[in-house]
Order: sequence, then C-alpha cells, then structure tokens
Amino acid sequence: MHVDRYERMYIIAATAVLGAFFAALLVSALVFGVHLPEPQGFVNPLALNETVFANPGLRDMGSNRYEVYIVAQMWQFNAGSTEFDPADNSPLLRIPQGAQVTFYMTSADITHGFIIERSNVNFEVVPGHISRATHTFNEAGMFKMMCHEYCGLLHQNMHMTLIVEPVGTISASAAEA
Ligand code: CUA
Repeated sequence: MHVDRYERMYIIAATAVLGAFFAALLVSALVFGVHLPEPQGFVNPLALNETVFANPGLRDMGSNRYEVYIVAQMWQFNAGSTEFDPADNSPLLRIPQGAQVTFYMTSADITHGFIIERSNVNFEVVPGHISRATHTFNEAGMFKMMCHEYCGLLHQNMHMTLIVEPVGTISASAAEA
C-alpha cells in the first residue's frame, strides 16, 4: 500500500506525541505518585452531626499517624481548630514533622475544593461524598490549604493553615497536651 511521504510523517509524528503523553502519564503515576482521589463513601449532608463528621478535628492515631475530619461549607473549613493563624485569621492545625496525615472531607452545602500547597493533595469536596487523601509531611514549615473550586462571594476567604513543627519541638507541644 502506498502512503504519501508527508502523510507517513504525520502518522509517525501523531503516534510519537501519543506515546510521549502516555509516558508522561506513567512517570507522573509511578515516579511522582500522582493519583486520582478515590471516593470513600457517602454521608447525608443534611445530617452530618449523625456521622463521623459530627466532631471535626485532628485525631492522633499513634506512630506519628493522624486523621483529620474537615467539613467544608460556605465559606470556611471546619476542622475543629481552636487556634487561628494571626496573619490571616484562618483556622490552624499543628502536626509534627514526618507525620502521615489522612484527610477526610465532606461538604455541608455546595461543591468546594481542597488543595495543599507543595503536596499532591488536591480534590473536590462534594456534598454527600467523602473525599480522602493521605500525605506525609517530611518538610517542616507552614502549608496553606485552600478551597480551589469557586463557591461564591467569599470563596477567597476559604482557607486553612497547617503548621508542621520541626521534630525538636514535638516533645514540648506533646507535653502540654
Ligand atoms: Cu469553597 Cu471556594
């Protein structure tokens, strides 16, 4: 079968581009650990106080593992915080360096988003659904967590602050608790 020279070049180029995209997909999944968040279950958004989201907050599961339950609603994240970032008055959570944290979230009203800077944590928060992601915070410092799904008038106010405390200071804060 005769294939025109230019047509053959375009066939080869198109196939090469698809191959490059597929290779990039494999590298992002296998090397950088980028995965789509999986749906974790359902809750009744009108009766969250009868679910695991009745008492949002951080739970110490031992062995430097934590779970945090967060309810997103217009226009705040409720993580049971009793402390607020003095810089922007956003709710604040503290974990020790190296902690593995699993985030469980749902929405009390409309669709929100959740992204943690310098991490792979990035998902939608949909009423009726539980979203989950796990991340290990090996780097100490401050991480901003934001709603990245436009959700109305005060969308830009919807954020939280996570402080990852350097290992040396854990014993001091744990002793206070
Ligand atoms: Cu919630 Cu944007």
